[in-house]
Amino acid sequence: MPQTDAMFIRGPHEPIAIERAEGPWLYTRDGRKILDGGAGAVVVNIGQGREEIAEIARRTIARIDYVLPVWTSPERERLVERLLKWTPAGINRFFFTSGGSEANEAALKFAILYHKVRGKSSKKKIIGRQFSYHGNTIAALSVAGTGRRADYEHILIDWPKIPPTYCYRCPWGKTYPQCDIDCASALEQKIQEQGADSIAAFIAEPMMGSSGGAVPPVREYWPAIREICSKYDVLLIADEVMTGFGRTGRRFAVDHWGVVPDILVGGKGLTGGYMPMGMCAVRGDLVEEVERAKADFMFYTYSSHPVACAVADGVLSIMEREQLVERSAQMGARLGSQLREELSGHPMVGDIRGCGLFWGVELVHDKATRMPFAPEKKVTNRVLGAALRRGLFFYPASGMAGNGRGDAMMLTPPFVIGDPEIDFIVRTARDALEDIRATL
Ligand SMILES: Cc1ncc(COP(=O)(O)O)c(C=O)c1O
Repeated sequence: MPQTDAMFIRGPHEPIAIERAEGPWLYTRDGRKILDGGAGAVVVNIGQGREEIAEIARRTIARIDYVLPVWTSPERERLVERLLKWTPAGINRFFFTSGGSEANEAALKFAILYHKVRGKSSKKKIIGRQFSYHGNTIAALSVAGTGRRADYEHILIDWPKIPPTYCYRCPWGKTYPQCDIDCASALEQKIQEQGADSIAAFIAEPMMGSSGGAVPPVREYWPAIREICSKYDVLLIADEVMTGFGRTGRRFAVDHWGVVPDILVGGKGLTGGYMPMGMCAVRGDLVEEVERAKADFMFYTYSSHPVACAVADGVLSIMEREQLVERSAQMGARLGSQLREELSGHPMVGDIRGCGLFWGVELVHDKATRMPFAPEKKVTNRVLGAALRRGLFFYPASGMAGNGRGDAMMLTPPFVIGDPEIDFIVRTARDALEDIRATL
């Protein structure tokens, strides 16, 4: 196979050449069929191969291929109108980007600008969580807690971190799901320690994604976080790049608790992978303050690209018509209960958690103590290799065991899967675990 891109990270297996895709299925150049149990990088919510979306993209390009982002287009206006039905009340201003990292960068910059125009330019630090991922650009990597920082630690911005908020093996010795409100108090302590006058925003994934392996928080966590942020005039940024647009069985994960963040960041499911796009959605009254101060907020060349806007609008209209958020909740409940039934007794499985079509299976060396495997064993990657040989892809993640250095499989298929595909995912995951157990 030719070297396609020398800059890409090395995967856990040889690169696979995908020739075409349909629904949740991928077809390889060498004639194999793989069930996409990860929806790619947790992206392909509506499944692949939708002619309707191809036609929307074709029609849009034929009419218009670029609009300066400070102007507008019918595609962008239609998308904004539709998004207003999706985002929590009050989140009604949108800044569109080419992906999640850019959207998070925009959120961080907006938070700093917002405080500056109100005469609070000392509020410029961002608090992130010890285990988190917000993207691959410098500032997004700086607020996150992920192994992906490793080679860049020496240049990242020194923004404060708080301890992990949903703990598989937490610093207080509690075990998920018994961890509690201490996790939110840690944020308040960090704000007090740093001084509220120095903090612009707190950013977190409402349910931890790849840095923890699909971990929902306890019920009290997000309402408490909302209260703390409001108390200290700290903007709350919910990074829903992975969890947004129905992935957890609600439109956005924050809807599980009725919490309204100040900034909601999206990507991935917004276009279901049909076009690169991210979204930084902001409370209208905050944007108005910045506008009153006549401050500029620079666009990216491809902000609000009309083809991406048209595709996102088309994808969301399919989600609405086919009731795919509801389907994510329903099929997810089935996937979760089958995973628990078939895998919870497995000696390598330490925990199974999730909701909607957002499930994590934590892999451990010792089931009783939940001790993780040694990182050099690369257990997740080996299980993924075994699963791929059997025709299943899942999204590999870090587990919460061993202070975030553990192993986890994320099972996050497209919302269009049916019962036979769920059976296949669960059966193949179990068989892949058995393949690897024999080698450990
Ligand atoms: C929670 C979260 N935020 C941000 C990003 C970065 O998005 P992108 O890769 O589109 O830049 C990701 C990507 O996986 C993510 O999971």
